[in-house]
Amino acid sequence: MQFTVAIDGPAAAGKGTVARAVAEAFGFAHLDTGLLYRAVGARAMMRGRGVIVPEIAVEIAKGLTEKDLAREGLRTARVAQAASKVAALPEVRAALLDFQKAFARREGGAVLDGRDIGTVICPDAEVKLYVTASDEVRAQRRYEELKAKNPETTLERVKIDLHQRDVRDAARDVAPMRAPEDALLLDTSELSIDAAVAEAVALVKKRFDKA
Ligand code: CDP
Repeated sequence: MQFTVAIDGPAAAGKGTVARAVAEAFGFAHLDTGLLYRAVGARAMMRGRGVIVPEIAVEIAKGLTEKDLAREGLRTARVAQAASKVAALPEVRAALLDFQKAFARREGGAVLDGRDIGTVICPDAEVKLYVTASDEVRAQRRYEELKAKNPETTLERVKIDLHQRDVRDAARDVAPMRAPEDALLLDTSELSIDAAVAEAVALVKKRFDKA
């Protein structure tokens, strides 16, 4: 059985939490595609001593392995910025395409979350969700996550970081972040985690029961 759930949305909207919970509820495999770009961005920054050199980023993307996704330190704000920069390079995106497409169509069902899953990676996904939340709520959530690991994090800095990434991700020429026309919208601004997850699971269940 092939069944793909494509979940897109801006930074810190709750995609990851919703994606993991949907995967668990239906027994599907889950791929956080942001990790691919974070892994490439982190290694490109290291190799370029703090600067992203496009040719190096492409080479890293072509040789990316599952081990690279398990490395520590991929969740920092610095790596998120690097991810968003390498994600704007068409050759980096092209190098990561086949792996994601194959994951989406694997037997037993798959949930992928990212920015271009419903538009580029899996335009034929059985379910497409676009998860959003207000800028304030997203910044506050990400601030709390990052603050737990780094006490020097400030809410102001997090707001700037999310805004810069949202603008870059939506403005790039290749696979820009946007809601697929046929996506179901899930605004999590006023929802608890449990409520957001319950709503997403119910939306997927409706389609799954028909499939
Ligand atoms: O967790 P958060 O929403 O902050 O970010 P993420 O999903 O880990 O993605 C990090 C960055 O990778 C994003 O800002 C995008 O630039 C890029 N990305 C992308 O271009 N396409 C995807 N399918 C997933 C992530």
